[in-house]
Amino acid sequence: MRKKIKVAPSVIAADQACLGREVKRIEAAGANLLHIDIMDGHFVPNITIGPDVVSALDKITKLPLDVHLMISRPQKYIKAFSRAGADYITVHIEACKSNAPEVISQIKALGCEAGISLNPGTPFSAIKGLLKEVDLVLVMTVEPGFSGQKFMLSVLPKIKSLRKIFKGDIAVDGGINRDTAGCVVSCGADILACGSYVFRARNPRRAIESLKRCRKK
Ligand code: DX5
Ligand code: ZN
Repeated sequence: MRKKIKVAPSVIAADQACLGREVKRIEAAGANLLHIDIMDGHFVPNITIGPDVVSALDKITKLPLDVHLMISRPQKYIKAFSRAGADYITVHIEACKSNAPEVISQIKALGCEAGISLNPGTPFSAIKGLLKEVDLVLVMTVEPGFSGQKFMLSVLPKIKSLRKIFKGDIAVDGGINRDTAGCVVSCGADILACGSYVFRARNPRRAIESLKRCRKK
């Protein structure tokens, strides 16, 4: 039985001058989770928000917070994001390297769902040893750092291989829209993180519905 597709709008693509209003708008439009990209200007060439903003957003939405840490040394900040209200905390294998198992258990010890993310160029073998520990795998379908980039079809085989052996949630992130959603869902993705397609849509409810109903390609 296929899991229901969940849509996680990525606030990086929202109007940053009125984040609270944007989050309420997207919650009313039927979002399932709120995807929050945390960038440190070191692991990725961009800088976004920190725990204080996450905590402020947590106070105004009932959506589960899906915090995506695109930062170096994530273990230093996990407690702060957990305290800020994160429900899911996803770290990059490229930022954790050999201490990934400790980082994952630290996230779970704080009561959060633990996610591991892979950049497009990182082979799925890099996280094979973690699949029994994590609740979610976030497969990047763009190079991390910016919203509005083009979806990378080359990542599809990685999603397919992952689906064959991983029973948890497979999330995808980057360039997800009405056209690319069908491709990733047919490869086994369950959670669609999407920024521009939803936040820039004239009718966000219709955009979110089109993703939830997307058919296998
Ligand atoms: C990229 C981020 C994604 C991205 C999504 O580093 O993790 O969440 O901003 O934005 P779109 O859907 O516009 O590619
Ligand atoms: Zn993201």
